[in-house]
Amino acid sequence: MTESSQPGVFISFEGGDGVGKSTQLRLLAQWLSAGGREVVTTREPGGTVLGSALRDAVLHGDHVSARTEALLYATDRAHHVDTVVRPALARGAVVLTDRYLDSSVAYQGNGRDLGADEVERLSLWATEGLLPQLTVLLDLDPSVGLTRLTGAPDRLERAGSDFHARTRQAFLDRAATGGPRWLVLDASGTAEDLQAAIRGRVAELLDISGTAGGTA
Ligand code: TYD
Repeated sequence: MTESSQPGVFISFEGGDGVGKSTQLRLLAQWLSAGGREVVTTREPGGTVLGSALRDAVLHGDHVSARTEALLYATDRAHHVDTVVRPALARGAVVLTDRYLDSSVAYQGNGRDLGADEVERLSLWATEGLLPQLTVLLDLDPSVGLTRLTGAPDRLERAGSDFHARTRQAFLDRAATGGPRWLVLDASGTAEDLQAAIRGRVAELLDISGTAGGTA
């Protein structure tokens, strides 16, 4: 269920680690703000105070089983949607989130082999069915993405090349059958080209001209 009854617009950015989601999200936020829209930028896990604690537990905890991991992400998502995303959408804001439910389906459903359908049902229950109007998938070979990361790798980043290959394929398969909600881009392109493609699609979604946000 997309939330056509909500005045706001909900957009998620998805893809593997190190594909450039945060950069693209930031550039889009600047452009939309310059065009006069209220923009809320947020992320999962960790878009709230409670979420920061959950983020720390899931990324750095000891002996976190696959099911515990799935439930921690779902808990973070439930609280994030309830306290940040839905209130912003109700005000008419554009909400840009760095990761959402499709990350759980790809990483826990496929990467951890818990089953895509079950993990999706868990997240839909947690969020009372909230789906984005647009999901931007930045697709990149994980061996390239992971080399872009700095700092010590977290639990997920250490999960191994088969795990990351499965999550990448899961995102692509989901996008291929997921209908008009998805925009799939090759993240090996330049940041400028990627941003131009994203703005073009967002302009259509918001019914604004491609230059309405000005230049960032
Ligand atoms: P992210 O914040 O994108 O990583 P970073 O800040 O290190 O770039 O996400 C943290 C990790 O959590 C990432 O490896 C993907 C993983 N993840 C899941 O496995 N399931 C989920 O539902 C979400 C939201 C993230």
